[in-house]
This record gives sequence, structure tokens and C-alpha cells, in this order.
Amino acid sequence: MNFHTLVMSVEGCFLLITHYFIKRQSMGKINAIISGVGGYVPDYILTNEELSRMVDTSDEWIMTRVGIKERHILAEEGLGTSYMARKAAKQALKKTGADPDSIDAVLVATTTPDYKFPSTASVVIGKLGLKNAFAMDLSAACAGFMYAMDMAASMIKCGRCRRIIVIGADKMSSIADYTDRQTCVLFGDGAGAVIMEASEEEGVGAQDAFFRTDGKGLPFLHMKAGGSVCPPSHFTVSHRLHYIYQEGRTVFRYAVTSMGDDVLEVLKRNGLTNDDVDWVIPHEANYRIIEAVAKRVGLPMERIVVNIERYGNTSGATIPLAMWDHESQLKKGQNVIFTAFGAGFAHGASYYKWAYDGDKVAK
Ligand code: ACO
Repeated sequence: MNFHTLVMSVEGCFLLITHYFIKRQSMGKINAIISGVGGYVPDYILTNEELSRMVDTSDEWIMTRVGIKERHILAEEGLGTSYMARKAAKQALKKTGADPDSIDAVLVATTTPDYKFPSTASVVIGKLGLKNAFAMDLSAACAGFMYAMDMAASMIKCGRCRRIIVIGADKMSSIADYTDRQTCVLFGDGAGAVIMEASEEEGVGAQDAFFRTDGKGLPFLHMKAGGSVCPPSHFTVSHRLHYIYQEGRTVFRYAVTSMGDDVLEVLKRNGLTNDDVDWVIPHEANYRIIEAVAKRVGLPMERIVVNIERYGNTSGATIPLAMWDHESQLKKGQNVIFTAFGAGFAHGASYYKWAYDGDKVAK
């Protein structure tokens, strides 16, 4: 290569790079918005009355201590989390009118995957017949869906993906011990899904997230067997080690302080006051936890979205199911704060500017 050719090619590269940056600037910032919500709960309703015939409990105890009246259970044999996940995703696709071939990824946040492998998300992709998407599960217990939304937002904002289905789904009845009154009354089954996509519109979509996992939670909330530390055996089955184990009071205390402080942190980081918050959509484990969080943050219960009375704790699905139920009241431009706490202890809060008028599309 002679000197003249070298100068020409350096000049050419320079022009190309300049052109790229000018184009990027003129394209504006890519925002990641939630463009629609779907949900699914199974038909079978397990009431407090029915539970009180199974274990020593009562409607009065459950309502006063936890605030749950009934929960939905996926009772049909042979159906797992992916069944509910795909129903929720299908509804979200239908409501938004998104072309299934335009989906770049499916993320499923779950504690109760269909199988150890492959991922539940891969089963969902297969059943929905998505051709251009990759799939993965995210494991962060009850905080999983909120984390998954943020992962999706990041992939969209950096330009890697344009449209992602984010699902929170759990069949908690598959790991609840229906001889243990301290845990079985708390949980239900369900799934919620959102379509997240790129938008050039300013001032809407994912704004910020503050997440932490402090790693102190293991002794207080876990499943003792079934993982690589203690693989399944006759011993683990006969000692009932494949169910949720929790020390409720400790979990309660951590949940209130973590979720409350995480919401306050997100407000502070974004220069928001309580008056700026239109809705808080929290993970729902216990009505009393949510009340205590609202008090810690200084917000009235009218601005907290709660439906635990009808669904119980559906783990990864509580937040998207709350969005699904509440969609008609979510208005474009409103400030929505999500907060969650789960095993690990995984917790955090995120801040979204709602991107559409929910009453125009709600179920
Ligand atoms: N019915 C009747 N009595 C009950 C029941 C029940 N279902 N469950 C417990 N009790 C009894 C206890 O045995 C105890 O009796 P005792 O005083 O004679 O010993 C009494 O009620 C009080 O028990 P506590 O455990 O102190 O009750 P508490 O008010 O703390 O409520 C609860 C328990 C509901 C579990 C609460 O601690 C809680 O909600 N904790 C957080 C749960 C949670 O968030 N889990 C995480 C989600 S799971 C995930 O991340 C995958």
C-alpha cells in the first residue's frame, strides 16, 4: 500500500465513524417501554375455608395475619409453570398486536421452573412458535420479575434487542407443603407477562433501578433439597425436604426494611418526593408487609396496588398480575415504582414512566 492509498483509507474510516456518530445522535436516545400486559390465573380457587379443612387454620387467622382470602391453583396433572407463562404471554401479544416474529427474547422469572433444564422460557418459545427469539430463565425468587424487566430494559436501551417478552410465573403449589399451616396458606399459582420494546419517544419507560442482593437470606428462606448440595433421594422425600422452608418473622422484618428503604433510595436518586409517585406496585407476600412498607415510605395505601386477597403470594407473578389487574388505572406519564423482596435476600426498587393509557387496552 503506498502513502496516497493509506491516507485515502484513513480518511475513509474517519468519514464512516463520523457518519455513524452523527446518525446515532440524530436517532435520539432509545427508551425501553412496557407496551402491554397479559395475565393468567388457573380456574381452581383454593379458599381459606377449604384450607382450614386441610390444616389447623382459619379464615380469620389468615385474613388478619396475611390478608389472603383465596388463591388460584393449577390443579390439572402434567401442567407446569410454562403453561401459565405462555397463556399470559399470548394475551400480552394479542393485546399489543405485536408480531410474534418480531420478538427478540423471552425472559421468564420463576422459582418453580418446569424442569431443572431446559429453561421454562425455552418451553414457552416452543409452544408459542417464536422463530426469532432466544430464551432464558432468571432466578431471583420473588424479586425475579422486577430484575428481569430491568435486564430487558438494558438489552433494549443498548440496541441489542427491540422487543422482549418478560414473564413472571410460578406454580407455588408445587413446592408448598399442604401439611404445614405456616407456609401453605400463603401461596398461589399464576403468571403475568409484559411486552417491553424500544421507543424513541422521550420521557417514557424504564428510568432507574436500585437492586441489591445481600446474601444473608439462605438460612431463613430456602428449599432444603433438590439442588446440587442435597440432590433428591428417598431420604429427602421421606423427610419432606422439597418444600418451602421459611422463618416467617425474620423474612417479614427484612422485607419491610429492604423494600421501604429501596423505594426511598430510588425516589432520592431521581429527585422525586412522595407527591410525585402515582403508584407503587410491590411484590405481595403479606398485606401487613405492604402496609408497613407504605408507612415507612410515607405513602397512603390508596396509591399502593394490592390484590393479594384474591391471588396470595404467586412469587415471580405478583407484580405483573398486579399490573394486569390495575392496567385500566395506569395513565401515560404516571410515575410507577416497583419494589420486591425475595429469597436470597434479593430486593430492590425500580422507577418507570408509564407509557400508555391503560384504560384503552385493559382486559
Ligand atoms: N393458622 C393458624 N395459626 C397459625 C398459622 C396458620 N396458618 N400459621 C402459624 N400460626 C400460628 C403459629 O404456630 C404461632 O402460634 P404460637 O404462638 O402458638 O406458637 C402463631 O400463629 C404466630 O405465628 P407467627 O409465625 O409469629 O405469625 P406471624 O404473625 O409472624 O405470621 C407469617 C406468620 C404470615 C408467615 C409472617 O411472618 C409472614 O408473612 N412472613 C413473611 C413471609 C414471606 O414474605 N415469605 C417470602 C416469600 S417466599 C419466596 O421468596 C419464594
